[in-house]
Amino acid sequence: MSFKALVLDQIDNKIRQSWKDLDDGDLPAGEVIVRVAYSGLNYKDGLILKGLARLVRDYPHIPGIDFSGTVEASDSPDFKPGDEVIATGWALGERRWGGFTQKVKVDANMLVRMPAGLDLERAMALGTAGFTAMLAVMALERAGTTSDRGEVLVTGAAGGLGSVAVALLAKLGYGVVASTGRKETHEYLKSLGAGSIIDRGELSEPGVRPLEKARWAGVIDTVGGVTLARAYAQTATHGALAVCGNAGGNDLNMTVLPLILRGVGLLGIDSNFCPGDLRRQAWSRLAEDMPADKLKAITTVEPFARLPELGEAILEGKIRGRTVIDVNT
Ligand SMILES: NC(=O)c1ccc[n+]([C@@H]2O[C@H](COP(=O)([O-])OP(=O)(O)OC[C@H]3O[C@@H](n4cnc5c(N)ncnc54)[C@H](OP(=O)(O)O)[C@@H]3O)[C@@H](O)[C@H]2O)c1
Repeated sequence: MSFKALVLDQIDNKIRQSWKDLDDGDLPAGEVIVRVAYSGLNYKDGLILKGLARLVRDYPHIPGIDFSGTVEASDSPDFKPGDEVIATGWALGERRWGGFTQKVKVDANMLVRMPAGLDLERAMALGTAGFTAMLAVMALERAGTTSDRGEVLVTGAAGGLGSVAVALLAKLGYGVVASTGRKETHEYLKSLGAGSIIDRGELSEPGVRPLEKARWAGVIDTVGGVTLARAYAQTATHGALAVCGNAGGNDLNMTVLPLILRGVGLLGIDSNFCPGDLRRQAWSRLAEDMPADKLKAITTVEPFARLPELGEAILEGKIRGRTVIDVNT
């Protein structure tokens, strides 16, 4: 039976998006065929949909860096038809065909069984962004960040990763300071559990001192660049920063002083090639720790047809929270 997919082609060095009807014979090699229910819209999807950052080398290509769905057929003993699964990372939607389609074929090691407490829609309401937020929280925990040591800063707080991070940290008892450039999201961020809000402008100008007044016990950063450098200089003794994103830039101009005088931990977060054990642990923790009402408040479900315009909106910083794409409407 045919299925619908958003296909990217490269024509005269330009990326063209088109809706195509494909059939099983078009699917790539893999062990498990999954009927996709939902895919998430992530910042990286926005880049890929426009052919930016050289994330995709081979066309034609089906984008979509994550999906949830139900197994239709499996050559792997690990999954059987009817199992509900989640996929994020492993270069899905980049070097492999991804989730902006009604059907995918992938290897079994790319799939995580749906944990109790989540369902197909809620899994993609979290998606790569939520999964990464949990990896960041777990990294801070491993670094010894506890709620009694001071406040945790979340940058790019009104975005997908930031919104989930704010809600998770608040649920776990941390005092959360949310940094955002959008005044209209202040009430939203407070409703997710942010105790206070700072304007992103407070962190966006280069600092003059390598060590600033200590403010943060922990940081979850989605912005990078000057914002990360300032947050790093403001991190308290034995605090830690979980470095997740580059929505504000790739450059990082900093000194070693916070590392050697305050013992600050700079922790890299990679969701793409995160090993299977940690992956399953993070999804179980999300099922346990992400409050259902907050996840609902963060999420907007959109039909497949709106994907191209939403892909542009996420690059323009106009998307609040998480957008889930229902590929069957
Ligand atoms: N390491 C990983 O494995 C991993 C996984 C997922 C995502 N990421 C990265 O994490 C970042 C966030 O992803 P997302 O899906 O949550 O994206 P998103 O929903 O678009 O959120 C990004 C947020 O960053 C802020 N922002 C955007 N442009 C900015 C600028 N020029 N200066 C300062 N702040 C800016 C905005 O927050 P406000 O409106 O609140 O200011 C925006 O909502 C991206 O860089 C993404 O590539 C990394």
